[in-house]
Amino acid sequence: MLTTPYVALDMDIMEKNINTMTSGLARNGIQHWPHIKTHKSVRLAKLEQQLGASGITCAKLAEAEVMAAGGIDAILLAYPLIGEDKCRRYAELARKITVRTIVDSLPGAEGLSREAVKNGLIFDIDIAIDYGAHREGIQPDELLDFAHKVAALPGLRVNGVFTYAGTIYQYHTEQDIRRAARQEAELLINSRDRLNANGFEITNLSGGSTLSSWYAEELQGITESRAGNFIFGDMNAINGGIYTAENCALTICATVVSIPLPGYATVDAGTKSLTSDLSATPHSYGMIQEYPEIELVKLNEEHGYLRYDPQKFSLTIGEQIHIIPNHCCVVANLVDEIYAFRNGEYSETITIDARGKSF
Ligand SMILES: Cc1ncc(COP(=O)(O)O)c(C=O)c1O
Repeated sequence: MLTTPYVALDMDIMEKNINTMTSGLARNGIQHWPHIKTHKSVRLAKLEQQLGASGITCAKLAEAEVMAAGGIDAILLAYPLIGEDKCRRYAELARKITVRTIVDSLPGAEGLSREAVKNGLIFDIDIAIDYGAHREGIQPDELLDFAHKVAALPGLRVNGVFTYAGTIYQYHTEQDIRRAARQEAELLINSRDRLNANGFEITNLSGGSTLSSWYAEELQGITESRAGNFIFGDMNAINGGIYTAENCALTICATVVSIPLPGYATVDAGTKSLTSDLSATPHSYGMIQEYPEIELVKLNEEHGYLRYDPQKFSLTIGEQIHIIPNHCCVVANLVDEIYAFRNGEYSETITIDARGKSF
């Protein structure tokens, strides 16, 4: 008997999610380099590769180090590497496996260049372009000048352009999401064309969120997608209209521990199981699979507050429920292990190898 709260993973649904995403991308000539920040597990990264991924994407160097130690040999590190220690660790990684990374500042490029030269290596570089979230990336009108400066540094080979269009999550209709996906692809294609018209040889066009990659035909022309969230699915994917509750593979299983008043129940999962992520809706911390009408309105660290009509529902102390989280990517990082099920039966324990590896 598993003890709550725990993270449950339906392997059948997850494998279907992987196959659907990877084959949709492949039909449109796009490689899949899934972002593993969603699961941080070597077992699941390898499964994604077995089911068609060309490599994986990591956010943090420490994640990439764990994945490489676990046997993954092709990684895109989609995060600006700043600081001598990071560049040194990156060079160590580059000696062992195939890695690529992004650059969006001269100090960042210079640090990588110094380390490449010191080690007699050539680093493949994607220039990161700001799609509009202003999180990272250079502005499109500065691209050419910046790319020339990076390419002039020894030890760096500029052969890719990169963007992350996270702003797509503000949209909830197919039409809006398709339009944003097309704009994302156009930004990369236009950037490639501009650079190649000026002597570059850009072959790698890296983009793709879960929402844009769902409509992969709109991304035609890019070479790779880094969609990550799709593997589990969550309230963000449901709100984006691409998934229903039936496509969500990951849930948090919790027990009803208290019913102080009719219509008020408390479960044993709070922010330490779900985080306080309100990205999907401003007033709900997830959907109860068994009771979609019952609301999870508030969390303390170890408590989740359920509210419901006591005329319609009668919860009982000790009853277990499954919560589809607002944002699945933050959940795996909270636990050492998740429990996998096939046909409703426990099948295996999956280790979150890169848990806490945020450095
Ligand atoms: C750089 C980068 N690429 C890809 C992804 C994956 O996007 P999604 O979560 O929509 O699958 C993310 C997610 O935050 C990201 O930051």
